[in-house]
Amino acid sequence: MEVQELLLNRRSVYPRQYNGTEIPKEALMKALEAANWAPTHKRTQPWRFFVYSQENMQALVDQWIKMAKRNLEAKGEEWTEAAEKKYAAMRQSSHIIGIACHYTGLVPEVEETCAVAAAVQNFWLSLQDQGYAGYWSTGNGIFTEEMHTYMGLGAEEKALGYFLCGVPEGVIPPSIRKPVDEFVIWK
Ligand SMILES: Cc1cc2nc3c(=O)[nH]c(=O)nc-3n(C[C@H](O)[C@H](O)[C@H](O)COP(=O)(O)O)c2cc1C
Repeated sequence: MEVQELLLNRRSVYPRQYNGTEIPKEALMKALEAANWAPTHKRTQPWRFFVYSQENMQALVDQWIKMAKRNLEAKGEEWTEAAEKKYAAMRQSSHIIGIACHYTGLVPEVEETCAVAAAVQNFWLSLQDQGYAGYWSTGNGIFTEEMHTYMGLGAEEKALGYFLCGVPEGVIPPSIRKPVDEFVIWK
């Protein structure tokens, strides 16, 4: 695909649209290689990717369910069938990738965070270019101390989300954007 076409067609595709089959390891490695070529000030390469395959993602989804149930309980709300379905669909992912940033102290933290975002975008575009799909999630208590510990991160690291991915099926709904003119200030 042409680069511009790929950029404009990149979509967040959610687990209910994954068919439950696995993305081949070579395709994932190719996308991870693309991620590793994101720009990074002083070449600190601050991205960390924790790759869960179908066999070992179940415990992770159980952890998310445990936290979601606890949050609902605290609000006096019930666990719904819709919630059950949402997490069941997540188990249909081919892989779930924990995204973290490792802060080296060599450059301001914001620069390391930006580099990780660029790496995720590279990963995402490469994956989609190969016919696969996914989305970046910052839900499921990702910024809590509990998830920090669950991911086994150190004091110099921060969780930035999970990338859920799979083999897409069905029609992917279009996305929308306001016109770029609204965000460009020509000086
Ligand atoms: C850093 C980041 C975090 C996101 N977190 C979530 C999330 O927690 N849940 C969700 O449904 N979508 C999440 N998204 C996806 C956005 O909602 C999505 O990109 C947006 O709706 C536009 O859709 P598109 O990517 O198909 O253009 C996240 C995207 C980014 C960049």
